[in-house]
Amino acid sequence: MPILDENSLDFISRSPEQSRRMGMRLGAMLNIGDIVCLQGDLGAGKTTFVQGLAQGWGSLDPVTSPTFIIVNMYRRPDESQLFHLDTYRLESAPEATELGLDDMLASGPLVIEWAERIESVLPKKRLWINLEYIDEEQRRLQFTAQGAHHQNFIDELRKSAFGGD
Ligand SMILES: Nc1ncnc2c1ncn2[C@@H]1O[C@H](COP(=O)(O)OP(=O)(O)O)[C@@H](O)[C@H]1O
Ligand SMILES: [Mg+2]
Repeated sequence: MPILDENSLDFISRSPEQSRRMGMRLGAMLNIGDIVCLQGDLGAGKTTFVQGLAQGWGSLDPVTSPTFIIVNMYRRPDESQLFHLDTYRLESAPEATELGLDDMLASGPLVIEWAERIESVLPKKRLWINLEYIDEEQRRLQFTAQGAHHQNFIDELRKSAFGGD
């Protein structure tokens, strides 16, 4: 696993399961106000990654693709919430603000598919993941972060990635 520099992580996933496992490791670290932005074409593996992320966070609910309803909310037994936004069908970035991004971030972690479409209204401090199709079973995941808090997620993911499976 090459390290581009200290602030980023470049990971090749060789199966959907491996992408879910990476998502699980990240999900287990997430708290209220954390933002995970996913960028990548259709089929790049964004929703697959979110499935693992929600599981790692502790969701009781299965992840469904929110393409038509835009926002999904998942719950844990302790009633805490995880928000899953898919901006594919949004007409414009301001519409995302109307969805209540600030309220979501005050209540739980937020993970966003097609985040680049609403980048102008997103907080600057966030974790950004670029997903790229390599071939049928392989995807490249590139993690970058703004701000020390979100940077810490990359540091932890790097440790676990080198530490085993
Ligand atoms: N290494 C991999 N990581 C993630 N998904 C993969 C991988 N290899 C194959 N796939 C498949 O690619 C598809 C990704 O779909 P999805 O996660 O819905 O993408 P997106 O949300 O980006 O449109 C799934 O059918 C998944 O099984
Ligand atoms: Mg998707």
